[in-house]
Amino acid sequence: MIRRFDYGAPLPTEALVVDVPLSTDALHPFAVSTSEKSVTFTRKLGKDDLIFGLGETVRGINKRGHIYRSWNTDEFSHHENKESLYASHNFLIFYDGEKAFGVFFDDPGEMIFDLGYTSADTATITSVNGDLRVVVIEEDSLSGIVAAFRQLIGPCYIPPKWAFGYIQSRWGYAADKEVRTIVKEHRDRHIPLDGVCLDIDYMVDYKDFSWNQESFPDLKQLCSDMKEENIRLIPIIDAGIKQQEGYEVCDEGLQNGYFCTYEDGTPFVGAVWPGRSYFPDFFQPEVRQWFGKKYHGLMDQGIEGFWNDMNEPALFYSEKGIVEARQELTRLMDMNLGLDAFFHLKDVLMGMQNKREDYESFYHQFAGQTVRHDRVHNLYGGFMTRAAHEGLTSYNPEKRHLIFSRASHIGAHRWGGVWQGDNTSWWSHILMNLKMLPSLNMCGFLYTGADLGGFSGNTTEDLLLRWLQLGVFTPLMRNHSALHTRDQEIYRFGMQEDMKNILTVRYALLPYLYSEFMKCALTGGSMFRPLSFDYPHDPACLRIEDQVMLGKECMIAPVYEQNARGRNVYLPEDMLLVRFRSAEDYCLIPMEKGRHWIDLDLNEMPLFIRKGCIIPLSHGGEWVEQVDFTNLTLLGWVEKDAAYQLYNDDGYTTKPVLTDGLTAITLEVKDGKGVAVGNGLRVDGGKVIIA
Ligand code: GLC
Repeated sequence: MIRRFDYGAPLPTEALVVDVPLSTDALHPFAVSTSEKSVTFTRKLGKDDLIFGLGETVRGINKRGHIYRSWNTDEFSHHENKESLYASHNFLIFYDGEKAFGVFFDDPGEMIFDLGYTSADTATITSVNGDLRVVVIEEDSLSGIVAAFRQLIGPCYIPPKWAFGYIQSRWGYAADKEVRTIVKEHRDRHIPLDGVCLDIDYMVDYKDFSWNQESFPDLKQLCSDMKEENIRLIPIIDAGIKQQEGYEVCDEGLQNGYFCTYEDGTPFVGAVWPGRSYFPDFFQPEVRQWFGKKYHGLMDQGIEGFWNDMNEPALFYSEKGIVEARQELTRLMDMNLGLDAFFHLKDVLMGMQNKREDYESFYHQFAGQTVRHDRVHNLYGGFMTRAAHEGLTSYNPEKRHLIFSRASHIGAHRWGGVWQGDNTSWWSHILMNLKMLPSLNMCGFLYTGADLGGFSGNTTEDLLLRWLQLGVFTPLMRNHSALHTRDQEIYRFGMQEDMKNILTVRYALLPYLYSEFMKCALTGGSMFRPLSFDYPHDPACLRIEDQVMLGKECMIAPVYEQNARGRNVYLPEDMLLVRFRSAEDYCLIPMEKGRHWIDLDLNEMPLFIRKGCIIPLSHGGEWVEQVDFTNLTLLGWVEKDAAYQLYNDDGYTTKPVLTDGLTAITLEVKDGKGVAVGNGLRVDGGKVIIA
């Protein structure tokens, strides 16, 4: 059952693609109270209640016990006590071990989710602006709730198949030559690779849609040479447009009134990488069309994918903020700074960035209304991705494109993927990124992954190796690091052979991973799920935070501690452990339901396959197109018969996905022998083991 409740004057966020009629009954899972402006939803929590959801946030899969704030923030430090990251995913599931319901707060402004933080037995959820739509979903199962929700918010964005390959990225790749060297180092060593990201260094003065003609003298040639090597370049595009006369994007934006404005209608100015910048008003369809078309210039050079950044939007400072800070500094200059004055000085300087007052000082034209930014803050990044998606689609409507964003909200999953932001080279962040996966999937974001190896700080080779062992399973598999940190490309490390071997596992598993991704994208399923979703009546599964289900057939349990040579794993049923060293080198160990210690050397990673299921394994490749989806080995612990639905398509056109569906081939094991049912697929079922 799905019910909708409205409060205040909800704005048309377009998060829902289905018209849910307003509920006429008074049944509400929360006690609702309104103050002058805000609306608060309160619910008592039973001792053992769990709360799932909220997408991209710190802490657990079970969100209970902390306070979260939906307010998209350029947050470079993902500590446990952070309330906001780059995204606002206001969908939660409350589960008491028996019954569950899902709830979506369709509110584009600030929301506070106090989930047993102020008082351990109470969830208090506040909409600061009080204009929102609340949708409550009741279904028989946890996965059923997610599926129903996903029907309401529309299908997930689908990237091209090459985007499932390994991508190398770093803030600092500043020239054509450097890109060529990176690719050569990978190819010479046979380290699989499908893409290289270009960070802000490729631009001129951080101006969107420009590229430095000195360091990239012939971008078209570079793209075409890279394509020969089966590599795609993926440039970054930021939200802020440099304020500079003569810069086409700036001039056009000003002439046409495409930028966000102050109350008096003059364009708002905030600073980001290029210094003083303007911010396109992505809520206006005309602005989206204009901005989206700007991507075409780079596409004309041969670019097929982009990442959108700084689109919370991040603000280093505003005109007003810097004037005020200067005045305050002048006042403090001659003072002997004691405790309070010193901390005040620090606050003045630090407080210039992403300042609340600045977000309250500019306006949008939103669905025919002039709306102050803070009311729709959390939609801004998603609508930038929408502009890109619409622009890329209009370039070639037949072809899929790669686009992933930093900021997002529920609804933006229809227009692009997301990466998990600026993590740090810490062991704890492997676990944090693992926990985000099921939560992001619930909210519709399937194409996602973390900066492998960690963005800030210096990685260590064992950390990168273990992080890659998680990245093997995430649709977006990208190694990315910050400027001035230790070099993080695989070939920089003594353990490069082990890292390469782990990448071969990714490419070997591609038929399975792609297939599961597509099935979930098309049916509203989650590729990653908490164990409790699949085993709701197994109390041991309810609170497991470091293992997640992958696809219908598998469970993953990565190692995330330094110097560990294995880990404890709980198997909710009999499973086949596949201990991979590489695509070719793995062993199969049938294991019984229960708790186990699994030995895992640094170069070994586990995958667990449910007993009675089979998954396909290819022979891998050095790039996605090399992977043969028809010559497969089946892995599984099968008593007698088993089947797997392998979905495949050309991976590049939008049509097969949108109209005809995908090609489905059933891989079967009959009496322990692998056979393929379908068009011309050959399977050597050699690896099927019979109990
Ligand atoms: C932001 C992004 C990061 C990027 C950097 C420079 O911090 O999150 O990925 O490398 O900006 O563009």
